[in-house]
This record gives sequence, C-alpha cells and structure tokens, in this order.
Amino acid sequence: MGQTVFAGKKIVIGVCGSIAAFKVAGWVSELAKEEAMVSVVMTASATEFVTPLTFAALSGNNVHTGMFGTGKEDVMTHISIGRDADVILIAPATANVIARLANGMADDLLTTTILATRAQVLVCPAMNSRMYAHPATRRNLQTLKDLGYGIIDPESGMMACKEEGDGRLAEWDTVKEHLAKSITPQALQGHKVLVTAGPTREPLDPARFLSNRSSGKMGYALARSAFRRGAEVILVSGPTALPCPPGVTRVNVQTAEEMYEAVLTHAGACSVIVKAAAVADYRPEELHEHKVKKENIDVNLLLAKNPDILLELGKRKKTGQLLIGFAAESRNLAEEGLKKLRKKNLDLIAVNDIGGDNTGFEGESNQVLLVSSSGTEILPHTSKLHTADLLWERITSLLMQSPQKA
Ligand code: CTP
Repeated sequence: MGQTVFAGKKIVIGVCGSIAAFKVAGWVSELAKEEAMVSVVMTASATEFVTPLTFAALSGNNVHTGMFGTGKEDVMTHISIGRDADVILIAPATANVIARLANGMADDLLTTTILATRAQVLVCPAMNSRMYAHPATRRNLQTLKDLGYGIIDPESGMMACKEEGDGRLAEWDTVKEHLAKSITPQALQGHKVLVTAGPTREPLDPARFLSNRSSGKMGYALARSAFRRGAEVILVSGPTALPCPPGVTRVNVQTAEEMYEAVLTHAGACSVIVKAAAVADYRPEELHEHKVKKENIDVNLLLAKNPDILLELGKRKKTGQLLIGFAAESRNLAEEGLKKLRKKNLDLIAVNDIGGDNTGFEGESNQVLLVSSSGTEILPHTSKLHTADLLWERITSLLMQSPQKA
C-alpha cells in the first residue's frame, strides 16, 4: 500500500568479487519489487561468486559484465549505463575496487562507468576486518569521501572468514535508506528535527505499568522520512519493538516524565518538532519499590497527572520553530483538532480517527485529518510511511513560509 520512492528510478548496482555478493542478489530483488529499474554491472571476479543469470532474473534486465560486446550497440555501454542513472550503488565494494576508484582508474566496465557518470555514487565496503583497517584502505575511503562518493560504513560482526570485526557488508535496511535519501529532494537539509514516538509506560511496581496501544510505527515512519529528506533527526521513543531507523539518533525513554526531560533537552535546537507519541496523561500516584501482592493492591488506583509536553513546547516555541501535534479522536475530528491546535499553540495537528478500520494504533496504514489555522485537509488512507512523506511535504511548505530558521 502507498507509494514507493523507488518506483521508476534508474538504479545501477555494481557488484564486485566478494562472498557478500550473494546478499546483494536479495537487494536487487527487493528493489525490483518496489518497481525500481535496476541494471547490474558485475566485475569479472564477481561472476565467480554469483552468476550473471541470477542478477538478470532478479532485476529483469540484462547484466553487464564486460567492456566489449559483440554488436555496435554495446560499444558505448560504459557511458550509457551511468548517463541515465539516478544513483549508482557499489555493493559489495572490495578493497581492490575502492583503491582503483580512489586513483581514478578505469580498467573495466564498472570503474569506467563510475568515472563517466554524473550520478551520485554510494559505496558499500565489504572485506576482512584487517583489510578494512589497513591504512591504505582507510586513505582510499577518505579520498572517495573527499571526491563526493557516499560511503555506507560496513558493520561489525562475524565474517565469512570466521573472524570478527568491522568489514561486514551493511544491512539492507541501512542501504535502502541511503539509497532512498540519494533520490529524494533534500528539503530538510540543514534542519534538525525532533520526533517523538510510541507509548509511555507508567509503572505501578517492578512488574506492572499503565500504558496504551501505540506501536510507535507512525513516529518511526516520520523519523525515517525526515532522514530521507536530509534532516538531522532525533527520535525520542517510548518502549516499542521497532529497530531504530538508519541514520536517526534515538533517545529511549519509559515514562512521560522521562519523555518530558528528553524532549525539552533537545527541543531548543530543533526547527521542527513532531509529537507523534501517545503520552500517558496519568501515572500511578505511588510507585512501589517491590511487587505489590494482590491482596494488598488497592482496587481504587490513585493517579497523578503527567506533564503535557506539547503544551509546554507550545509555551516555549521560538520564532520560526514549527510544532506539530497528533491527536487520537473517535468523533468530531476537525473540531477537536482545532481545539488542541489553539490550546497547545501548534502549527499543524494530524488527527487520527481511532474509530476507523486500519487507521491509528498498531496497523501498517493510517488516514489522518490535517488541521491548521488555514483549514483542514484529509490525507488518503495509505501506508504510515507514505502518510509521513505527505506530512513532511506539508511541513516543508510551512517552513518556507516561516519567518526565520529557529
Ligand atoms: N501530548 C503530550 N503530553 C501529554 C499528552 C499529550 O505531549 N501529556 C501530546 C501528544 O504527543 C499529541 C498531542 O499531545 O501530539 C495530543 O494528545 P492527546 O492525548 O490526543 O490529547 P490530550 O491533549 O491529552 O487530550 P485528550 O486525551 O483529552 O483528548
């Protein structure tokens, strides 16, 4: 459901001779599923690990392996492949190919294509940790960075050679986000944004807490989408099962009071704050150090009010800073949204209809009503990531109208 950023994008993948080449076959398959137009260029040694047929079948396109074809249509392959590309990804990038690129060499189809392209080139190194740590490789990677190549750092872990350390090919989720970023207009470049997500947990004792049904998916999608748009993203998150989106700095909190502290610590430096978290409005008045036995639990639980973080942010809002809220409502959506917009001094509020099918809590999709001082807009029922994309588009327009950067 929803749009994918990769649909119709021309992505060239350069595969080099490393055992990690088999992982990249899976990536090609993922990109083809998301309707990208994937062309694969393989170095001679890459074909020793995975056959060109595998990449041809997964991409649905011919795979390029050599400089010299048989017919005249192949003569300019090294120019034509890179000419139309939206982005070129080299994965796995071996120490050898990195060294050749750092020296501007063009001695096979892949290196020649890279030298001839104007597209953004992303490099995913993968090699033994000692090769990766070697000063020559470090220098070559630095040279590539200086030349404007994007380097997607390898991860640490057990490698095919049974050694542990840095050098394992980056995970697909990370690579996918960098690819998405490379083809997304960088409308939030230079902006620091703060997103809150998930529920808060208000403990009663070490075993029990009060909480709500928030999964964090909407807030995490907002953080992911902001990274793709070039923002520096801080995600203050209540407890969720979700992994931290790549490129995002996550601050984990449990309670509303912890979220209040974390948000106020970072808010001053941010030009946009989006409060997607479902903050518990109340906490048990008393926090028991030890588990309360059932015979001793008072059936009338006394509650204390939590701070309203968004209300406080509204009071402290700086000139040019944008404050975006969420509201969970089951009726009178526009009216309730407008009330909260005014009360909390917001620029925009996204109202979730929690009474709807597949909207709001837990699901993969959402439909929100946007309320601002200039009116309302109902967004389509779509994936949470697409909802996040649409929301950032609206926020970006507001940023362009705002008096000055916070
Ligand atoms: N919010 C907050 N701190 C709270 C409660 C809510 O920052 N203690 C924020 C939420 O992150 C959300 C917005 O306020 O962006 C609206 O939350 P919601 O619970 O819908 O509204 P309330 O103001 O708590 O009102 P009510 O529950 O009565 O509808």
